[in-house]
Amino acid sequence: LNADDFFPSMLPTGLTFDDVSLATRYSEVLPRQASLNLTLSKRISLHLPIVSSDMDTVTESNMAIAMALQGGLGIVHYNMSEKQQVREVARVKNYVNGLIQDPFVAHPEQTIGDVLELVERKNVKFRTFPVVDQDEKLVGLLPGRVVKERYRSHRVEEAMHVRSQVHTITESEIGENPVETADQFFSDHLGIHKLLVVDQEDRLKGLFTLSDIERISEEARSNLRPARDDRFRLLCGAAISAVRKADGSLDRDRIIGHVSNLVGEGLDALAVSTAHGFSAGVGESVRLLRSEFPDLTIIAGNVTSGDGVEYLADAGADIIKVGQGPGSICTTRQIAGVGIPQLTALYACSKAAKAKGVRILADGGISKSGDVVKALTLADAVMCGGLLAGCKEAPGTILEIKGKLYKQYRGMGSEAAMKAGSAARYGHAVKDLNRKVASEGIEALKEISGSVEEVISGLAGGLRSGMGYLGAKDLDALKENALYVRVSPAGQREASPHDVIVVKAETSEEG
Ligand code: XMP
Repeated sequence: LNADDFFPSMLPTGLTFDDVSLATRYSEVLPRQASLNLTLSKRISLHLPIVSSDMDTVTESNMAIAMALQGGLGIVHYNMSEKQQVREVARVKNYVNGLIQDPFVAHPEQTIGDVLELVERKNVKFRTFPVVDQDEKLVGLLPGRVVKERYRSHRVEEAMHVRSQVHTITESEIGENPVETADQFFSDHLGIHKLLVVDQEDRLKGLFTLSDIERISEEARSNLRPARDDRFRLLCGAAISAVRKADGSLDRDRIIGHVSNLVGEGLDALAVSTAHGFSAGVGESVRLLRSEFPDLTIIAGNVTSGDGVEYLADAGADIIKVGQGPGSICTTRQIAGVGIPQLTALYACSKAAKAKGVRILADGGISKSGDVVKALTLADAVMCGGLLAGCKEAPGTILEIKGKLYKQYRGMGSEAAMKAGSAARYGHAVKDLNRKVASEGIEALKEISGSVEEVISGLAGGLRSGMGYLGAKDLDALKENALYVRVSPAGQREASPHDVIVVKAETSEEG
């Protein structure tokens, strides 16, 4: 027998995070000096290279807000109605943006009862309202202390502060830094909680509130650098599925209509998320979106080859998701027998991405900060599901089992998630789910892991340490300085605590 009688022996090797370790390099960089800033597209700059997965047990508005506050990005999933998804994106975009541009208003002829109904209907948390006439001209400010049941029958104009008593600035006085301007105003006017913005004709254009400005200033003091757009709003992404008509063709009008609504709320990045991005359907969707929304950042995937990256880049994607089957709840490799271990996939994709001038996201399989460091030697940012699913900001209720607290975490290719809407992501129609359709994900539980801030600070801390060991002052240098060694099974055992009885489970970077 010679070697060719056996199965070809020189197959390429697929490696993943635990198969390699990074070599230490000469360093003049202390971990805390390492910069985690990155630019993902013309309009998306982050201060943390971490994106939360568009999964129905990971990212809704609370997660997207928490991720953007940490400097990263959240992608709101699409296993909900289109209307609900638009609302979720609006919640993120309207979260403490310094200047509130479409404030709720009252009218002089209304009663306090009408205002109370607005409070109830819109579930607003505050009680002070600018009062405007039919031409949107500012006529007064209704103070919160009169928006009470006992004054229900009074008219707004009887109870409001009149125009001459209301503090305002004009749009042109806001200047380059709205927060600084408002902060200065509130410092100079003790006891005033609202500053209204008007145009030259005295029409209401927005308002600042003291509590928002205090929160933003607090963030600045605590070194938090939220990811914001050029209007100072938090960044937010959302995923869509390729909606098809009964005859199988893309429902172009519906997709364009929904994406227009998302963009109308200020959406920053749209993800066409599927299990198989190197496919005609995904290419068609990306081309449609690129031609209709030339300025929108488009994320598409998932792929695991250079060809796949080129295909989606040519279709118009700015950012390409890499990963098939590395995820903690994924069974694609077991069910379909397909997929490439994640580090090898990233290696292949990173070369093509560089040549095409697009960015890549390492999606799935990140289970510790060391994996983030290794992934970022090839990718521009990582996408995490499982690591964030146990956070209080993830959707879903907390379950108690034998005294321990858990949250549900499920694959978007699990039967339950596909029934809730994600079937198209795996190339199935919801109506087919009762027939034999293989699920490609599992339903699982994650132990509660605290807040996003806590989880992210652990990941960012580990990333900075890795950058310190590699002498990398920023994420570009991390890529340039990376040298890999292949780890043997004995080397892998050596990398975890061994020959000791562990009394405290956290891993320390020393030793
Ligand atoms: P982690 O490891 O962070 O992975 O939990 C999250 C990523 O896994 C992908 N994903 C799936 N892949 N079947 C799969 O094969 C699934 O059911 C599934 N659900 C999510 C997705 O890319 C996510 O970001």
